[in-house]
Amino acid sequence: RTEPLVLGIESSCDETGVGIVRGDTLLTNAVSSSMEEHVRFGGVIPEIASRAHLDAFVPTLRQALDEAGVTLEDIDAIAVTSGPGLAGALMVGVCAAKALAVATGKPLYAINHLVAHVGVGVLDGGKLPENLGALLVSGGHTEILRVGSLTADVQLLGSTIDDAAGEAYDKVARILGLGYPGGPAIDRLARQGNPKAIRFPRGLTQPKYMGTAEAPGPHRYDWSFSGLKTAVARCVEQYEAAGQELPVADIAASFQEAVVDVITSKAVLACTEQGITNLLLGGGVAANSRLRELTAERCAAAGISLRVPPIRLCTDNGAMVAALGSQIVMAGGEPSGVDFTPDPSQP
Ligand code: KG4
Ligand code: ZN
Repeated sequence: RTEPLVLGIESSCDETGVGIVRGDTLLTNAVSSSMEEHVRFGGVIPEIASRAHLDAFVPTLRQALDEAGVTLEDIDAIAVTSGPGLAGALMVGVCAAKALAVATGKPLYAINHLVAHVGVGVLDGGKLPENLGALLVSGGHTEILRVGSLTADVQLLGSTIDDAAGEAYDKVARILGLGYPGGPAIDRLARQGNPKAIRFPRGLTQPKYMGTAEAPGPHRYDWSFSGLKTAVARCVEQYEAAGQELPVADIAASFQEAVVDVITSKAVLACTEQGITNLLLGGGVAANSRLRELTAERCAAAGISLRVPPIRLCTDNGAMVAALGSQIVMAGGEPSGVDFTPDPSQP
């Protein structure tokens, strides 16, 4: 076999992931989440996440090896998320990966979590097309990237200047009393509401931010969601002050429409103006039904071919780390050695 067998380890947030791939083929994707331990706090508590990774790592590794029917001896390379993410959480995965690399003598590759969200695309549909853009939408990031080469050339075209989209979902869900995590709850509720009931603001769409194609403004491809969150809070206050019952489903639907409208319109604008003809959608918010629908609709209208990996590959997992590791190994990339430290704010 010429294709490398790569073990990928992910621990940047609340998911402990161990995935195994052979070349571009997924063998297994074991994930253990500490989400339930964070629910009562309404957000991920870093210390709890770190401890949970420590508890979950060995069982998750064993599960992945069993499911793939391989042993550590069979593995050709180990890949691990080195950032961005929570410092303590990253540390657990990186320490585990270093220990495995030292004990087995296998080469170790440090992986950028965000690029891994793109690299995972090879596991569903094979090699990524040239002239590729990636729209990453999660609890931590909202970014549009140009991907010249997965292993050598990834350029940031635009990003959120404040909250990530998933974060906005979680904050609005809290305002509406829907619990944590808020994305799935709003997604469900929005189906019963009218997305046109309330006109919420689309951040950074005014001419002073957008400019024109020839003379781009300072935030042409960027997003902002903090004003939207404030607008939802004001709206709720007004209903409460008037003693009226809150139209929760209409607010959820209208909020979701504002988020998804501005995400997709700016992503498609960036692709069109930058001559990008293929787009990959990734990150936890890619689970959102309306985001999938409107991205597909607008990409089709703009002649952009869209790839959306299955949801279990869009949310944080080890297979995405293994997939990017495998691309690097196949491209002849140098191992990272065992001296690197995790970088929580890795760009
Ligand atoms: O990528 P992910 O699993 O973890 C991060 O790296 O952040 O994304 C988690 C985020 C959370 O904010 C969650 O509310 C959001 O993704 N999310 C959704 C949906 N499912 C998860 N947001 C909107 N609609 C959904 N169906
Ligand atoms: Zn992620």
